[in-house]
Amino acid sequence: MDKQDKKMDEIVVLDFGSQYSHLICRRIREANVYCELLPYNTPAKVLKEMNPKGIIFSGGPASVYAKDAPKPDKQIFSMGKPILGICYGHQVLVDNFGGKVKRAASREYGRAGLVIDDNADLFKSLGSGINCWMSHGDAADKVPDGFQVLAHTENSQSAAIGNKDKKMYGIQFHPEVVHTERGVQILKNFAQEIAGAKPEWDMQSFIDTTIKEIREKVGKKRVLAAVSGGIDSTTVAALLHRAIGDQLQCVFVNTGLLRQDEETEVVRLFKEHLDIDLIYVDAEKRFLRKLKGVTDPEKKRKIIGEEFANEFVAVAKKHGPFQWLAQGTLYPDVIESGVSKGPAAVIKTHHNVGGLPKWLHLKVIEPLRYLYKDEVRKVARLLGVPDELLKRHPFPGPGLAVRIVGEITPEKTRIAKHASKIVEDELKVAGYYDKVWQAYAAVGDDRAVGVLGDERVYGHIVMIRVVESVDAMTADWTRLPYEVIERMSNRITNEVEGATWVTYAVSSKPPATIEPQ
Ligand code: XMP
Repeated sequence: MDKQDKKMDEIVVLDFGSQYSHLICRRIREANVYCELLPYNTPAKVLKEMNPKGIIFSGGPASVYAKDAPKPDKQIFSMGKPILGICYGHQVLVDNFGGKVKRAASREYGRAGLVIDDNADLFKSLGSGINCWMSHGDAADKVPDGFQVLAHTENSQSAAIGNKDKKMYGIQFHPEVVHTERGVQILKNFAQEIAGAKPEWDMQSFIDTTIKEIREKVGKKRVLAAVSGGIDSTTVAALLHRAIGDQLQCVFVNTGLLRQDEETEVVRLFKEHLDIDLIYVDAEKRFLRKLKGVTDPEKKRKIIGEEFANEFVAVAKKHGPFQWLAQGTLYPDVIESGVSKGPAAVIKTHHNVGGLPKWLHLKVIEPLRYLYKDEVRKVARLLGVPDELLKRHPFPGPGLAVRIVGEITPEKTRIAKHASKIVEDELKVAGYYDKVWQAYAAVGDDRAVGVLGDERVYGHIVMIRVVESVDAMTADWTRLPYEVIERMSNRITNEVEGATWVTYAVSSKPPATIEPQ
């Protein structure tokens, strides 16, 4: 993987802590230039080895004059590389070259009119002005020697500056957010025109080079891959299958905690659509047995993770030996483990195929480790993964275990599956399925009296949860029309045996979470 990447022109973003740092990286990639996000204190030596075409300093919450203000390695300024500083990054540049930054008289947050004074390079093809997005308390007061003003706003006389000889530029606003008109063009101008990076990054070329790299890396050895039917593991399998064919062995474990008929659909997807051979493990009974009597959510997750590993080891032993284990790690996971600024509180432990015994001696291959989720979708589409799967809502690893409150019993599992299917179907009919992030029906031990025919039934209360979200970090409950909720409720109480009442969850995240467990 690494060798190939080095051949491709790239831009590096140094992360000074802005919530938008990731976005800069994504926008540069949208301009078809490969881009990586690295910590702000990455040594110049490392950057010299990487030899990027240009470097971007991201924004950040600090003030350059604060005692512990994050600063880049000074040597970076004498590497001869084009640099673009954004917001805090702009102030780092100003400060480094002897300009002055101070608390702005009037802070700028939100939309501002940017008047372009020079549209020769950074603002090429942007005309005389755009609306831009500001978010800062400090501003450049004195522009450093050698720099000239390229654009200004009403409150900021040096909203954009540049030193054309050194190819160093600073902008006070955020070109990476959608509120800045044609912001991608500014980043593209920096990457392609100023830094001279070739636009070599697109998903078809990613597929071609990755297939070559997988072949070189794996040789004649065998690879084991756990698939769930989700986009990431399916894409990993499709890529590996293109690269090494039958040397790939996919395993699908039916935990009994999947969505209705999901096991059948996954097997069909692999066999019919992707032509990939799959070992199907029916572990439903074993999972249920291990989970019997367990009510604590974290304990459930732990048991599921362990049992998953057991099932996997059994397959590896029976069908092995394998030398590689494929995983669907994505770029945000890679960054999180490397650039983490401190341990985030663990609210829920998410499980993956971790915890495999060392004696299996499996080396890990992660073909998607450079991709963002939307890029994975594009790759999947190019590899022939059907749209139906690409549009399917994400589903948690431990499956229905996090949607069944209290002990997992066959009855509650049946109710959760059936009621969730009704929720999904009705959302599709109402045209809401593609607009929401996740939708399901959860069930617990709360009961309420209902009347079925003439009979009194003390049945389960089912909770419908439909949320909108961009990244699952925050979520808002969906304001579904009453008629849609009513149809769901009627169908659930009529069609799902043992369900007597239906509620609708109206808590957003935070303070609630998306799943009840
Ligand atoms: P919460 O409930 O924490 O969920 O708001 C955020 C997102 O993560 C999914 N989720 C999980 N995914 N293993 C997973 O792979 C887990 O243990 C797990 N728990 C929650 C959840 O579906 C939502 O999209």
